[in-house]
Amino acid sequence: MTEDGKESPELDRIVQNIMSALESEDSKIYSEDVIAEFKDPANVGSVADADGVGFADGLCNDTMEITLKLDGDRIARCMFFTDGCGATIACGSRLTKIATGKTLEEALAIEPEYLAGLLGGLPDDHKHCTSLAVIALRNALRDCVRRRKEKEGGEQ
Ligand code: FES
Repeated sequence: MTEDGKESPELDRIVQNIMSALESEDSKIYSEDVIAEFKDPANVGSVADADGVGFADGLCNDTMEITLKLDGDRIARCMFFTDGCGATIACGSRLTKIATGKTLEEALAIEPEYLAGLLGGLPDDHKHCTSLAVIALRNALRDCVRRRKEKEGGEQ
């Protein structure tokens, strides 16, 4: 589409070529799982009326926020938001998928290396993306516990 709103097959073709070149480059760097998760991420956004909110920022200045909704001791809903790279989006997507349905303790035990393994590995300069996601999740879990204790303290 041009500025005057007309279709431009030439521009579409150029954009398509650029996208194909980028995808070809990505496939040399990232696993199929990372690319699939990045292209169609799950659980993007924020849980309404969250029971816990966790934030993390990385050495690269990328950030992630994870919000959780609990059902008893289990995670009923888990969503993420990031301004980070494609690998970070893949990490947030996969991590929120696997955390959903887990107890707080089970989710707290998820390690960055485990997440990297589920994604078929990450290049060395993107290994910290898994830590960013896992730290955000752990902070959200701690926030759930803190809020619960506050609520219990308030009820006494
Ligand atoms: Fe820093 Fe992905 S979180 S490059």
